[in-house]
Amino acid sequence: MTSATTPTPRPADDDWWRSAVVYQVYVRSFADANSDGVGDLQGIRQRLPYLRDLGVDALWLTPFYTSPQVDAGYDVADYRNVDPLFGNLTDFDEMITDAHALGLRIIVDMVPNHTSSAHPWFAAALAAGPGSPERERYLFADGKGEQGELPPNDWESIFGGPAWTRVVDGQWYLHLFDPAQPDLNWRHPEVRAEFEDILRFWLDRGVDGFRIDVAHGMIKAEGLPDVGFNSMTTGQRQSELLGKGRLPYFDQDEVHDIYRAWRPILDSYPGGRMAVAEAWAETPQRLARYIGPDELHQAFSFDFLDATWSADSFRKVIDTALAESTIVGAPTTWVLSNHDRQRHVTRYGDGEVGLRRARAAALLMFALPGCAYVYQGEELGLPEVLDLPDELRQDPAFRRTGESRDGCRVPIPWGGELPPYGFGPGGSELSWLPAPATWRSLSVAAQTGISGSTLELYRTALRIRHEHPALAEVGGITWLETEPGVLAFRRVAGDTELTCVVNISGADVTVSGHGRPVVASADLTERGDGHVLPVDAAAWFERR
Ligand code: NOJ
Repeated sequence: MTSATTPTPRPADDDWWRSAVVYQVYVRSFADANSDGVGDLQGIRQRLPYLRDLGVDALWLTPFYTSPQVDAGYDVADYRNVDPLFGNLTDFDEMITDAHALGLRIIVDMVPNHTSSAHPWFAAALAAGPGSPERERYLFADGKGEQGELPPNDWESIFGGPAWTRVVDGQWYLHLFDPAQPDLNWRHPEVRAEFEDILRFWLDRGVDGFRIDVAHGMIKAEGLPDVGFNSMTTGQRQSELLGKGRLPYFDQDEVHDIYRAWRPILDSYPGGRMAVAEAWAETPQRLARYIGPDELHQAFSFDFLDATWSADSFRKVIDTALAESTIVGAPTTWVLSNHDRQRHVTRYGDGEVGLRRARAAALLMFALPGCAYVYQGEELGLPEVLDLPDELRQDPAFRRTGESRDGCRVPIPWGGELPPYGFGPGGSELSWLPAPATWRSLSVAAQTGISGSTLELYRTALRIRHEHPALAEVGGITWLETEPGVLAFRRVAGDTELTCVVNISGADVTVSGHGRPVVASADLTERGDGHVLPVDAAAWFERR
C-alpha cells in the first residue's frame, strides 16, 4: 500500500483549461516500459519530455484502473487502484510528480455509468438475489413474457444486441455496453457517495481533472420505457440516434444533478481542477447544458470531429459551437480524433490526400479559441490501420456488430527499423496490436527535426499558439470574405493579428493582405504580393 504523495503546487492560473491543448494518452498503446507488449504508466513517465517538447499543456489518460480489460479498461473493478498491466499506485505517483515538474497537467478518465461485472458490488448483487439491497445499486429488473423470458424492455447495447442479460435466478440486468459492464443505479445514494469519494481519492493524489465517460448516460428515464424500435424489430440500431435524437437512457435532465454535486468538490481543490464530458445530446444546445460554472468545464465537440471535409460543414459547426460557448461562458472543446473513432487522416480520404487534409485540419483547430484535444499519434499523421487480422481485434463490439475500434489503437511508433518501432525498450518485439510496415517512416525518430514533417508542423503550431498574443485571447473569431470553399478567420489582440486560411476549394488560391506566413501545412509559393495556398492546405499569417 502506498500513500498519496503531496500534490505538487500547480501554477496559479485556475483557468488553464480554457485554452489548453490536451494530449490523449491511450495508455495501452503509448509506450511500454516493461516489454510485455502493452503500454504502461512508467512508459508514459519516460516519454513525458517528448510531450513537453511537443508543446501540449495536459495529458488525458484513458482508464488504467484494475480491470478484466473486456472493454480495454472501461470496465473497472477497482476505481482506487492501478491494473498490474499498467503498473501500480507508486508508478502513478511518480508519473504525476514528473509530469507536474515538467509543467504538464494530468486528467484521468472516470467511468461512472457502469462498473465491471468483476466489481465487488456486482458480485454481491448476484450473490444476494432479487429484491436485495445489493441489487439496488445496479439496474436489475424482471423480464417480460410468461416466464420472464423476454428482456424488460427493447433497449439495445451500444455494442450491439440487447442491453439486458439474464442471470441464473431469472432477473435481468442492464448494460448499455458489454454484458461485462453492468449499469449502475445513479438514483441510489450509495452510488453517488462512492463516486464523490473516488473523485476525492484522485484529486488528493494530485490529478488536475477528469474526463467523464458516457457523461450523458447515468440517469435512465423513470419506468425504463421502450424506445419503440431496435435492430431486431425494424433493423434500425438505436445508437444511430446518438447525437441526433432522444433515447430514454441518455441525456435525461436529472443527470445534471450529479454534476452540480461534483462541481463544488472540484472547486474545493486548488489549481483549477476540471472535468470534460464525453456526452452525446440531441442538439448543441442540450450538449451545452453539461458545461457552465455549476456543472462541468468542457464537453467535447463531436460535431467538429464529424464535420466533413468542406468549408460549409466546418463553418457551420464552428459557428454553432462558438455561439453555445458564449452563452454558457465556457470554452469550446475541439477534437478531431480519439480512441473510439476512425483516425481523421483516413476519414478525410486516407493516403496522401487524407494526410494533407489532416495537417490542414490541425492548423484550423489550433487557431480556434478554446481547448483542443490531440489524440496520440495524430501529431505523426498516423492513419487508421484498416487491415488488422480479425483474430487480433479486441474491441468487444467487433464480435457483436462487425465494427471495431482497434484500427485507431495500434501502438505508437517511436523509432527503429522494425515493428513495433520502439514501442517497448531495447528492441522488444511485442505489441498487443501489430504496427504496419509503412509506419517506419512515420515514427517519432523518423520525423524529429525533419522540416515539413507532421510532427514538426504540430510542434511549430503549438509553439506559436502558446506565444502569439492573438491566439492567447479567449475571445471570438472574425470570419473574412473569401472565395467559395476557403475558410479564413482572424483573431486579434491589440494591434496584433493572426489569420488562419484553409483551402478546401479544390483549386490553388492566392492569399494576400494578411501579413507574413508563420506556419503552413504545405509549401507556400510567393505570387505577386501574396502567397499561393495549395489545395487542402492551411496557413497562418500574422501582422504586428
Ligand atoms: C466511451 C469510451 O470512450 C469507449 O471506449 C467505451 O467503450 C465506452 N465509453 C464504454 O465505457
